[in-house]
Parts: sequence; C-alpha cells; structure tokens
Amino acid sequence: MTNTKERVVIFDTTLRDGEQSPGATMTHAEKLEIAELLDDMGVDIIEAGFPIASEGDFRAVSEIAQRSKQSVICGLARAQYGDIDRCWEAVKHAAQPRIHTFIGTSPLHRAIPNLDMDEMAQRIHDTVTHARNLCDNVQWSPMDATRTEWDYLCRTVEIAIKAGATTINIPDTVGYTAPVESADLIRNLIATVPGADSVIFATHCHNDLGMATANSLAAVAGGARQIECTINGLGERAGNTALEEVVMALRVRGDIMPYETRIDTKKLMHISRRVATVSGFAVQFNKAIVGKNAFAHESGIHQDGMLKNAETFEIMRPEDVGLAATNLVMGKHSGRAALRDKLRQMGVEVGDNQLKDIFVRFKELADRKKEVYDDDILALVTATTEGD
Ligand code: KIV
Ligand code: ZN
Repeated sequence: MTNTKERVVIFDTTLRDGEQSPGATMTHAEKLEIAELLDDMGVDIIEAGFPIASEGDFRAVSEIAQRSKQSVICGLARAQYGDIDRCWEAVKHAAQPRIHTFIGTSPLHRAIPNLDMDEMAQRIHDTVTHARNLCDNVQWSPMDATRTEWDYLCRTVEIAIKAGATTINIPDTVGYTAPVESADLIRNLIATVPGADSVIFATHCHNDLGMATANSLAAVAGGARQIECTINGLGERAGNTALEEVVMALRVRGDIMPYETRIDTKKLMHISRRVATVSGFAVQFNKAIVGKNAFAHESGIHQDGMLKNAETFEIMRPEDVGLAATNLVMGKHSGRAALRDKLRQMGVEVGDNQLKDIFVRFKELADRKKEVYDDDILALVTATTEGD
C-alpha cells in the first residue's frame, strides 16, 4: 500500500518556551535528560533554550547540541547581532544546528523597541542575513503575527525569506486566533508572499483561549508543515500547544488529517511524567492523552461497555501512548460486572451469592469513599467469607 500522508515536522520547545513558564525552571541535568528523551522519541527539532538569556541556558544548549543524535538543535535569539552570535556559539556543536531569530511585528510589539515599520523591516533583513551567514538552517518569527497588520506581515515575511530564512514561523503569541482564522492566515501567506513555496511554514500557538491544539491543526490544514509545541502544553500563562495532543490527533484522525509525524507515541506517557516531575507542574487529571483519567472509567455503563469492547468508550489504545492498560476505577458508579472483573484480576474467584453480598457492601463503602482500592475490596471478600 502506498503512503499518501505528508510529513509534519514536530518542533518541541519545552526547554525554551515551556521553561519560560514562571516556576518551571529545570536544572542542567534535568534539561539534558528531557532533551535525550525528546531526541529518542523522534522529535525533529528541539528548541533547547535561549543562549543569550543566561550562562546556564548557554551551557545547556551547547551540551544538548553536542549530545544530540537525530534531532536538529535550535536556539532562540532576538533580532540583534549579539544574540545571534551567542546562539550560534551554542548550537554550532550540533550535527544539525538551527538559529531561530524573532522580532515582534504587531503595533504593540513595534512600540517596545520604538522602531517604525521601515526601520523594523531593515532590522529583519540585516539580522536574518547575519544568521544565514553563520548557519544554513535559519528560522524567523514575527512575534504576535496574529495581531500584525496583514500587509506588514506579508512584507516582513517576504524580507525574511529573501534574506535567507528557511522556516517561517507564525506565532499566535497571546493565544488570540481561532481555527478558521489560523488556517486562512497560513493559506493566504503561502498564496501571497513571493518565495513562500521555497520555505516551510510553522505554527506556534499559545493556549490563552484553550484553542492552541485546534489552531495548530487548522494551520496544518492551511499549509503549515511544522508544529511548535511542548510536552504537557507547558508554557507561559495558559501554555503552548501540547505535543501529545497534536501528535495523537493526527494519528487517530488520519482519515481527515492525512499527515504523519516521526513521534514514537509509546514514549509519550513517560516523557509527560518526567516533564511534570522536573518542572514541578503536575498534569491535570482530565488532561487529554496524558492525564490520570484519560484512560480511566468509573461509571457502571462505561465499565460494562469497556469490558465487552474497549472501542465503546476509547478512541485510542492505552498501549499506543505508553500506558499498560485502561484503568477501571472502582467507585460508587461502578457496576457488578466491573467488580467481578476486578476480583478476577486480583486472583479472587467468588460465587454468585458472595458476589451479591460483596457488591452491596462495596456500594455502601463507595458512598463514603471517593475511590475504593484493591485492599478495600480484599477486606470485603474476607468479611463476606467469614460471614458465610
Ligand atoms: O510566542 C511567541 O511568539 C514565541 C516566539 C519567541 C516565537 O515564543
Ligand atoms: Zn511562544
């Protein structure tokens, strides 16, 4: 069978945008560990840090660059020669280095360095040219692209392409866009900007309105072929697009989104847990794909359905994201079929009468406790056996 799926490149920025999240600072050793897991999982590009930001960031990016096996290693730099030089000093050790340089192009962001449109256009030309003289692989981002005037956005993207940028990233810096707009923006840029067909367009979404994943996938529908994301959606404010969500959405809904990634999805759960631990940002229970409850069921109807056919209430197999099995949580909503199944898993065989007795006591207990654990169930078995 021929493969008709187009590749979408995964750019992970857990160690840069993710770590920028207040309180998410990681140690040097933790960054090396996460970079190794990302590389091993099949992430195409790792944004390892912001080398000018601190001596520690510089060291981390340099060492990750030296250790990388398959991934491109990227560092971030503002539109300043000093930043770009420092970035290059850090990433140049990689087998595949990339410089990512950016400047805020929206009216609010232009006001900060106090540059008018022409001065900023000149700055973009000069800094992208400088980066390209150092490195063959240059990414340029107009920060706050989704609030930048359309004509000016096209003008700056064209300048960056002519100056040698190989990837153009379109950031939704404040999570302001919506799926229909996100798709149109990329589609119209590709259709309008001269030279757009010679570069890769990337999407970089923040989750302020809870739409980062939807906006990223819409951008892919519009022609983006690089998704920027982080593990667990770690990132400033409400976070970035979650890597595990876009990767699994493309995998599960390949019928309507015919794009593939290189990610080994069986490694998702492990890296999610490691990032949660080292960043100190716990994953919410109902977080898609990697939350504690993403493959857990308590209600009797759901548990019964799951025991008959897992597809009744699950669109992904837990093994595909690195979980051993679905978790049928024993609580007040659980039914008799799930209780019997649980007892079997625990190696306990009971007759119909004892099961009936255990079930009555189990429901009484479950009304008093949020979750009934294996030990509680064993105690019920003992109590009903002794009562025989
Ligand atoms: O959100 C953003 O605009 C960024 C840029 C630096 C790419 O993170
Ligand atoms: Zn960002």
